[in-house]
Amino acid sequence: MKKTEMKRVVLAYSGGLDTSVAVAWLREQHDVEVVTLTVDVGGGSLREGVERRAMSAGASRAYVVDARERFVTDFVWPHLQANALYQGAYPLATALARPLIAQLLVEVAQKEGADAVAHGCTGKGNDQVRFDVAVHALDPGLDVVAPMRVGMGLTRDQEIDYAAERGIEIPITKASPYSIDVNLWGRSCETGVLEDPWLAAPPDAYEWTVAPSDAPEPVEVTITFEGGTPVALDGEFLPPVHLVDRLHSLGGAHGIGRVDHVEDRLVGIKSREIYEAPAATILHTAHRALEGLTLSKDTLRFNRLVADEHARLTYDGLWFSALHRDLRGYVASSQRVVSGEVRIRLDHGAAVVAGRRSPLSLYDRNLATYDEGDAFDHASAVGFIEIFGLPLRVEAARHGAVGKHHGAAWAWTPPLLANMPASVKDREAT
Ligand code: ARG
Repeated sequence: MKKTEMKRVVLAYSGGLDTSVAVAWLREQHDVEVVTLTVDVGGGSLREGVERRAMSAGASRAYVVDARERFVTDFVWPHLQANALYQGAYPLATALARPLIAQLLVEVAQKEGADAVAHGCTGKGNDQVRFDVAVHALDPGLDVVAPMRVGMGLTRDQEIDYAAERGIEIPITKASPYSIDVNLWGRSCETGVLEDPWLAAPPDAYEWTVAPSDAPEPVEVTITFEGGTPVALDGEFLPPVHLVDRLHSLGGAHGIGRVDHVEDRLVGIKSREIYEAPAATILHTAHRALEGLTLSKDTLRFNRLVADEHARLTYDGLWFSALHRDLRGYVASSQRVVSGEVRIRLDHGAAVVAGRRSPLSLYDRNLATYDEGDAFDHASAVGFIEIFGLPLRVEAARHGAVGKHHGAAWAWTPPLLANMPASVKDREAT
């Protein structure tokens, strides 16, 4: 909704064809000055010559911000600590970058005294929701314009003509058969032949990972965590972005992190997406393994609920909600003891936990062992079971033993031997 006459707009600018055309379109249709903001979130998201292209499209100023480190530490790590995978599958790479970009849009808009921000999302996806909602949460005074949603609907060829007529420099990439979004945490690929969920994704849908069957001999990597965040690989301490990049290359070479997912979009549509997230897959696997060693049974159970909620809030663009902030506080606190090392074997597309250890481990070998040195008091199990099983014994006494009610709608499996032919019984007996 337009509250005031717009004078200056900050556009989230990828440097692609759509957003290049959007610069000119905004100027012509809305008679505004356009400032562009390009955010480098890694993974090849920063295209060459964006600044020059923005100016050629008519921007009055072009910001290019390297936000990779902030992306990892403030967005990716909290999500990793929470084990948040949307619908148990998608590591949320695209969804995690949106609140960061929205935050920077607002920062630039405030600095530039702009009255609105703009983005190149269509009216069918999740990203428009994420941008709009995040911007309004951070600065309710800013308008949000999405040219693709309100009239700029041009085909690719029309966009190319539109740009040519205005002397706008456009990227010289050939049209991809897919719609792709990348950042250092993952690559999202949809549309084209992928829209048939029965069809296997063709090899060209993948760019970061080799086919698992083409992967070389398995290798092992040791990941060190401190307080729930990864800090070192094979004993070498690395800055966050380097650590992710290193696992990205290593995992990709071993075919790790391909996800073929039919997911439920926020706008009510089911859509099929192919994800590649080698670093995310390795780190999520390792992190969960270390939690299994260092967190109590109850904390683990509760964290699974939090993980689902965290993933939903991220996917739905509610990163800047109070609920998310408070859940994050809980997660951060739970992570204080998640320190230690995990060995992961990268084996033809699978990231397999090979070992884990921690100075804060709750695993006690003397209690677990079946060998010498067993410290567990076997005899005390009798009393424990007596009390633990009490409700079931009362139930059986009052309502009848479960096995006696076969035939009733709620019955468990009927007795097996009674229904067996004699020959089977005989064979069982011998
Ligand atoms: N479905 C994912 C999400 O909503 C990724 C969307 C990214 N866009 C794309 N062109 N593949 O987070």
